[in-house]
Order: sequence, then C-alpha cells, then structure tokens
Amino acid sequence: MSVIQVQGLCPLNGRIRIQGSKNAVLPMMAAALLCRDVTVLHHVPDIADVRIMADILRHLGCLVNWRQGRMEIDASDLTRTEIPREYVGKMRSSCLLLGPLLAREGEAVTSYPGGCVIGKRPIDFHIHALERLGASFREQNGTIAARARKLFGTWILFPYPSVGATENALLAAVLADGTTVLLNCAMEPEIEELCRLLTAMGARIKGIGGPELVVEGVPELHSCEFTPAGDRICAGTYLAAAVISRGDVVVAGVRPGELLEPLKTMERMGAAVSVREKEKEIRVQMKKRPSPVFLETGPYPRFPTDLQPVFLAAACTCRGESRIRETVFEARFAAADEMKRFGARIRTDRDTVHVKGRWPLGSASVRAPDLRGGAALVLAGMAAEGISGIEDCGHIERGYEDLCRDLSLLGAKIWMERESLAGS
Ligand code: EPZ
Repeated sequence: MSVIQVQGLCPLNGRIRIQGSKNAVLPMMAAALLCRDVTVLHHVPDIADVRIMADILRHLGCLVNWRQGRMEIDASDLTRTEIPREYVGKMRSSCLLLGPLLAREGEAVTSYPGGCVIGKRPIDFHIHALERLGASFREQNGTIAARARKLFGTWILFPYPSVGATENALLAAVLADGTTVLLNCAMEPEIEELCRLLTAMGARIKGIGGPELVVEGVPELHSCEFTPAGDRICAGTYLAAAVISRGDVVVAGVRPGELLEPLKTMERMGAAVSVREKEKEIRVQMKKRPSPVFLETGPYPRFPTDLQPVFLAAACTCRGESRIRETVFEARFAAADEMKRFGARIRTDRDTVHVKGRWPLGSASVRAPDLRGGAALVLAGMAAEGISGIEDCGHIERGYEDLCRDLSLLGAKIWMERESLAGS
C-alpha cells in the first residue's frame, strides 16, 4: 500500500502543463475498435485506467504500442469479443466497449461493472440504447451477452444525460444502417471530443456539442490521428490547490470555457482568476482566506461532480459555513467523513453537505476512498499544520499521472512512501 505525505501551509506557485484527458481518451480507445486499421492518439496520459483499457484492447486482439504519450491501436484483426470479469471489476469504462463490439462484430460478452464508493452506477441506459439500435441482451450470473445481427438507425431518448450511455450509443450508431437521433445527450466536453474523433474517422454526426445528436450510419470508418484536450478535472484540481494553499498557479493546455462554473465559484471565494483563451491558459491567485462555497453539481455545463470533492476540501478552509449539493451520484461524500479528521466541522444531510471551515486545519492520517476523494484529501492536507498522511492513494493513480510530481513542481512539500509488501 502506498501513502502520500504532505507538509501543509506551503503556498503553490508556478505553471504546469496538464496531462491528456482521462475521460476523453478512454472512449477514444474504445472507438479505435470501429476501424479495421490503425488509430493514433497523442497526449495519452500514463494512468492506471488507460493501462487497463490498453490491456483489454490487447486481450480482444488489438496491437497497442504506447510510448511517450503516443498510442497506436491496430484493430485490424480482433480475436475475441468477450471482456473478462477481472478487467471489468478494475474499470467501469470497459462497458464502453459494448457499442463498438456490437457495431463491428455483432456480439459482446461482459459483466456488470458493479457499483463503487460514489454510487450504484448501473448501465441500464447503455443497454436500453443498444437494444433500441437492435441488440439483444441475455444475462446470466452477472454476465451480459449481447448480440446484434445488424444495428439499425432509430431514435433514442436518454432518461438522464448520461456521459457513458451517450458515448456507447454514439460508438454503435456510427456504423448502424440508417440514421439515429440521440435526444437528451450528455454535453460534457469529452462527448464533443469523441464526436470530433469519430468525424475524423469518417463518421457523419450533426449537432456536436448539443443535447441532440443526429448520426448517419456509414459502412466503415478509417484510420486517423487525434490529439485529445487536456484534462479539465486535473486542471480544476490544481487550481483548487492554488486556492487552498493561497498560491498563484497557471495551468496550460485546457480550454478555460470547459471550467466556467468552477472558475466562477473560485472568484466568489475571493480568488483572482484570469484566462488566456487562445493560449489555453488559466491563472488563479489567492491571497486570503476563502469566502464560503455554495455549489450544486449537475450535468455539463453545470458544476462538474468530479470537482465536488476538491471544492469540499477548499470549503474546509473557508471563513464561515459552506454548502455543497451533489445531484449526479447518490453517494459521493465518502471523502467528507475522512475530511472531518482535519478538524473542519462537516454535517451531511442526504445530498447536501454543510461545512464550517477553519484555518489552518489540523494534520491528520486519512484514507483515500476513491479517485477524486483521494485527491481532495491531499489538498486538505496542504491546508493543515504539520505533516498529513493519505493512505490507499493507489486510487489517485487511476486518474492523475503523478499528483506528487505535479504538486512538487508547484512548490508543495509532498512525497510518496511505498510500504514494502513485508510492511503491509
Ligand atoms: C462519467 O462517468 C465519468 N467517467 C465520471 O468521471 C463522471 O463523474 C461522470 O461521467 C459524470 O460526469 C468517465 O468518463 C470514464 P454518467 P459515467 O453515466 O459515464 C446514472 C472520474 O472521476 N446512470 O453520466 O459513469 C449514474 O448512476 C469519473 O473521472 C444510470 O442510472 O457517468 C449517475 O448517477 C467518476 N444508468 C448518473 O447517471 C446508466 O445506465 C450519471 O452517470 C448510466 C448512468
């Protein structure tokens, strides 16, 4: 088990280029299955979830070469259409392979991804969309076998603007026979990125960036090279760290327009925010104790749920009482329980958490519950007197290439202690 140690009260200062977007790259890797040739992705982040997805593609018969951010996926010959349970358990996004496997091979076998600490996370919207396109599903002891002799264009209304279900439906509809209209789609920037990749591969999609997508199926897609955007959630994490540590940080490589709600929230907390849209740079300076946070998460363009935990950490340092409401996932306050150990007074009332901040926080030894909660606990440690320890920080490596490296570059006193097996 590895533990991150962080020395608090070190203001962050400096500029950092943001890694490629995890939540854009994962569906793009699934999209590579749609082309019986090579797809090249640049700026691919070296994170655990991408490594797992690469292993799954290899298991299915793809050749995957990945060096210094450049990933080449040769999906000319697939040898399997079944995703082993052990992969599904490690990474929920493996369900995004259902759409492309059905579109290309007419079959796919996987298992339910199961819930995680942030919620039950069913895939009923995914299954319904693929059934509407002509797939049939059989379930047996948690295994799902999907078949489709052919996929046919149709219309699909999502009950909720689900990111993954929108992506799965897109990845199937692009090769369906006829036109598909997708209604009430998720509008996260990662969906727009996926549509741009698919278009570069020869897909015909109208309404990109909006809630209604019209996909005209084509017989096949061709190879292409694509560079995804920077990871807006990583960028938001580092900018929130600037607020918490009362520093001055510039993040580069992320479109400011993709972080509007978090940036407006930081301004309301008292930060000075400046952006250079063309250069894709955002600067946040914080000189005083933040004013209270009031936010409510929701589907894009509302406040992103993935940044809720790090803003909860910022709320723990605010003057006065903050209120944060989580509307996307039913159980995304796991980090709140751990954060109480730093001395902030946190009260959870169903989907809302009330926080009475203090400054500085007291050092603590805490345990990361999940990816974004773990990052939030590291940020809370940056506002605490003394040295704090965050255990189980393997979760963090799922989405951040190297949180310690990046925060150290900005002046944080932070290091990882990997406990030897003998010690665990
Ligand atoms: C994506 O997850 C992201 N993951 C999540 O980021 C992000 O938090 C989420 O979108 C919301 O923005 C990736 O892109 C890999 P949803 P996804 O389908 O697609 C319910 C991170 O930390 N739902 O939009 O799973 C679901 O339970 C991760 O990077 C159903 O009920 O999210 C949730 O309450 C965490 N049935 C809501 O919809 C379904 O079939 C939103 O989920 C699908 C979803």
